[in-house]
Amino acid sequence: MDQKVRTMGSSEGLFISIDGPSGVGKTTTVRALGRLPRDDGRPVHLTCEPSEGRIGKLARDLTETVTGTALACLYAADRYHHLTTEVFPRLEAGEVVITDRYSGSTARRQPSRKSPR
Ligand SMILES: Nc1ncnc2c1ncn2[C@@H]1O[C@H](COP(=O)(O)OP(=O)(O)OP(=O)(O)O)[C@@H](O)[C@H]1O
Ligand SMILES: [Mg+2]
Repeated sequence: MDQKVRTMGSSEGLFISIDGPSGVGKTTTVRALGRLPRDDGRPVHLTCEPSEGRIGKLARDLTETVTGTALACLYAADRYHHLTTEVFPRLEAGEVVITDRYSGSTARRQPSRKSPR
């Protein structure tokens, strides 16, 4: 690839989320972005939701057995933990964080107008 990722001359972190329907190419895109050479030397951190942490793994394990609001709460807990322990510290350190799924998946899977079950 002859492209370069360019960011503005700020030392603040950059957060990129890749979202979309199942099988559309999110993981492929995140990995490709991670391989692109960068012109500013900033570290790039690839991550995903549900996260690789314990709550994220629990959410993945229970996706077929827990439904509705309980599952939404698990995903919300994972989001909070992922952001506070992994994403925010890296952004504050000036890194580029690219996540495979984020709020688009939440909007699709936990629509706010749907009645709790
Ligand atoms: N730009 C592309 N053109 C053609 N095929 C692609 C492209 N990007 C990904 N694919 C292929 O599509 C398939 C699904 O890709 P990928 O696993 O990245 O999707 P995903 O959105 O992460 O899926 P999931 O929602 O299941 O996590 C793979 O076989 C991959 O090689
Ligand atoms: Mg994927």
